[in-house]
Amino acid sequence: MNNVLTIDGTSGVGKGTVARMMAQKLGWHLLDSGAIYRAFALAVDARGVDIADEYILVEIAQTLDLTFKSKINSELVNVFLDGRNISKILRTEYTGEMASKIASIGVVRSALLKRQQNFAQAPGLVADGRDMGTVVFPKAPFKVFLTANSEERAQRRLKQLQAQGTKGIISQILADVMARDERDFSRKNSPLKPDKDAFIIDTTKLSIDEVVAQVSDLIKI
Ligand code: DC
Repeated sequence: MNNVLTIDGTSGVGKGTVARMMAQKLGWHLLDSGAIYRAFALAVDARGVDIADEYILVEIAQTLDLTFKSKINSELVNVFLDGRNISKILRTEYTGEMASKIASIGVVRSALLKRQQNFAQAPGLVADGRDMGTVVFPKAPFKVFLTANSEERAQRRLKQLQAQGTKGIISQILADVMARDERDFSRKNSPLKPDKDAFIIDTTKLSIDEVVAQVSDLIKI
C-alpha cells in the first residue's frame, strides 16, 4: 500500500488534530499510535503486573483486545479495551505518562508493530505518532515531523484541558511536557526523531489550518 502519510512529533504539538483533518481531507484511514500505547499501558496497569516481566508484557500486547469506533458525523473516536469504553481515561496525563514509560521497552514496541502496520489499508493511511516515519512505515512516500516550542505546546495542552472542563496549572503542564520529551527523545528503542526524508514544520507560530495547508501542499492535494 503506497498511500501512507506519517505525522510524527513531540507531545502536545497538535499531531492528532492535523492527522485527523488530513485523513478526512484525503478520505484515508487514521492510525493514532499513541492511543495503542496508552491502551496497552492501561491494560498493564489494570492487571497490576511487574513491568520488568517482559514475557507478560509481550503476552498482553499480543492479546490486547482493542477496537476503535468512529462516530458518524463526529470528530470523536471511541476506544474500547476488552469491550469497555476507555476513551476518557485514555487521554489523561496519568495514562500518557504511563504510556511514555512503557513505550521505551523494546519488546513492547516489537510486539505492537504489526498491529500498527495492519492499519495500512486502501485507499490510504494517515499515521500519527513518534516513529511512524522511521520504524513503522519507513517506506511511506509522505513524511512530516511537527515541532513547536515547549511553552507553546503547554499552552495548547492547557486550552485542550479547559475545553474538556478540566483545570490545569501551566507550570505543571510545562514540566510534564518537558519530562515526556526528554524520555521520548532519549530512549534507546525507536527514539523520537525526524526521518531523514521527513518534511519538518515548526508549528509554534502557525494555526492548525496553516499546518494542514503545508501538509496538503506536500502531497499535492
Ligand atoms: O501521542 P500520545 O501522547 O498519545 O503518546 C503517548 C505516549 O506513547 C508518548 O509519550 C510516547 C508513546 N508513543 C510512542 O512511543 N510511539 C508512538 N508511535 C506513539 C506514542
